[in-house]
Amino acid sequence: MLDALLSLEQSALAELAAAANAEALERWRIAYIGANGQLKQAMTGLKDVPKDAKPAVGKRLNEVKASLEAAFESRRTALASSGPSGPVVDITEPGLDLGLGRRHVLSRTIDEITDVFARMGFSVAQGPELEDEWHNFNALNIPAGHPARDPRDNFYLKGTWAERLLLRTQTSTVQIRAMESQKPPLKVVATGRVYRPDAHDATHFSMFHQIEGLCIDRSVSMVDLKTSLLQFARAYFGADAEVRLRPSFFPFTEPSAEFDMKMRIRGELQWVELGGCGMVDPNVLNAVGIDPEEWTGYAFGLGIERIAMRKYGIADIRWLFENDARFLRQF
Ligand code: FA5
Repeated sequence: MLDALLSLEQSALAELAAAANAEALERWRIAYIGANGQLKQAMTGLKDVPKDAKPAVGKRLNEVKASLEAAFESRRTALASSGPSGPVVDITEPGLDLGLGRRHVLSRTIDEITDVFARMGFSVAQGPELEDEWHNFNALNIPAGHPARDPRDNFYLKGTWAERLLLRTQTSTVQIRAMESQKPPLKVVATGRVYRPDAHDATHFSMFHQIEGLCIDRSVSMVDLKTSLLQFARAYFGADAEVRLRPSFFPFTEPSAEFDMKMRIRGELQWVELGGCGMVDPNVLNAVGIDPEEWTGYAFGLGIERIAMRKYGIADIRWLFENDARFLRQF
């Protein structure tokens, strides 16, 4: 009887190892540990075993039962985790629309623009939204008493005059931080939120986003500036995009210009005003300890909302910040 139990256990375990799917597993269960299986029959045979051998055979029967049941459970778990074993469910059907969210059109625009400049060799820099006056004004050639520092045009925080902080009004602050932390030559872009107490209308908001570009090297000129803007325009808006510069003034660039890009809007080529640019003023280079006799540079800054609005035909900047899902899900 003990020999018969051993061979029953061995052949059951061998067959179990070969059971490759749920059906084979079920056949095995019925054949060996089911209500009328071989193990049950062996148990029924216990009554014919001589009395003195009964304890040993009974003990062995229990061991074989426990061993086969444990082996069955572990085989079942292994098969369940190794992939589908029942009927294959076709999940390629469209199914229910679960209304999944998507990235905000501005976040996508920021990523796309940054990506284009990254491919043009610009690295990405960052700066804080809460700035000190040195980075927002002084280092950018906007000295104390300059009208741009008027409290009516800036969001100042409470504090002493010497340590006053404000919400940055432009990403040009990151130019200063980049030049303070890296030695030239350098080529960086920085994107982020800026804040101005402008009245809200279709094209103005009190919080908006800018992208700043800065390139410092030996013998950099306006030609490099215009070429970079043109390369960006062609990569982002299409091969027929163009760039034009119009003379302007910024305290931190000399000469300065406003720049427009010609882009295709719903099939038609149109000039769109995008931002400011120019050659970094020698006073700015001196403020961060870069010798203007050895290094020159260009900088530019553009409004991201204006780009997204032009690109996607959005008529009112306020719609971008109302968080109305019916509007946002169009992009
Ligand atoms: C500047 O902010 C300069 N820092 C740009 C610059 C950088 C010049 C480097 C030279 C060198 P400006 O104030 O013109 O420039 O703003 C740049 C762009 O931000 C504008 O062309 C416009 O696209 C956007 N912008 C300005 N104010 C608002 C506003 N209230 N709402 C939305 N976009 C705005």
